[in-house]
Amino acid sequence: MLFLAFYLAFLLLAVALVAGELLLFGSGIYSSILGAPYVPVNKEIARKMFSFLPSGRRGLFIDLGSGDGRVLRGAIAAGFKHAVGYELSWWPYLISKLLNRWHKVGDRADVVRRSLFDADISGADVVYAYLLPKMTDKILPKLSSELLRGAKIITCLFRLKDYESGFSLVGQWPIGNKTVYIYEKI
Ligand SMILES: C[S@@+](CC[C@H](N)C(=O)[O-])C[C@H]1O[C@@H](n2cnc3c(N)ncnc32)[C@H](O)[C@@H]1O
Repeated sequence: MLFLAFYLAFLLLAVALVAGELLLFGSGIYSSILGAPYVPVNKEIARKMFSFLPSGRRGLFIDLGSGDGRVLRGAIAAGFKHAVGYELSWWPYLISKLLNRWHKVGDRADVVRRSLFDADISGADVVYAYLLPKMTDKILPKLSSELLRGAKIITCLFRLKDYESGFSLVGQWPIGNKTVYIYEKI
C-alpha cells in the first residue's frame, strides 16, 4: 500500500515536471513565433527606468507584452495606481499572475491574456514596450491613434522608428547593457 502511494506520488511529480517543461518550452516557441521572444529586462532596468520619467500623472501604466510582470511591479513601486500587462504566452502569463500575488500587488497590477494589438491603451499615462524592432514598428500606428496627448512611451533597446511624426523624444538613458528611450505623444 505504502509502495503504491509512493509510486503514485512519484508519477504525479513526474507528470507535473514534464507538463511544466512543455509549458515553458512551448511558451518560449510561441513567444518567438509571435515576433517577440520572452526575454525579460533585468530587475535594475525594471526599477530604474521610472526615475527618468518626467513628472506627470501616474494613474495607468501599460506593458505591451508583459512577460513575468516585473515591469508592472516596478511601476507600482514607482507610484502608479494601476498597472496592466498584455501577454499572450501561457508561461509568463501564469508566472506573472503568481508573482503579482506573491508581491502583494495583485489588486493593482493585472495581466490580461490578450494580444497587445487588442490592448486598450486609451487611458494610459505611460505605455512600455520591449519588443523586437519589427513589432515596435507595427505598434506605432496604434500608439499614434489611441494614446492621448501627453502620454509617455517607454521603449527598451529599440527606439520608435519614425517618432518625429507624432512623438517627441524626451530622452534616452543607458541602464546596464541596454538603453531606455522615453517619448511623449504630441
Ligand atoms: C522581450 S519580452 C518583454 C517582457 C517584459 N515586457 C519585460 O520587459 O521584461 C516580450 C514579451 O512579449 C510577449 N508577446 C509577443 N507578442 C505578443 C502579442 N502579440 N501579444 C501579447 N504579448 C506578446 C512575449 O510572449 C514576451 O513575453
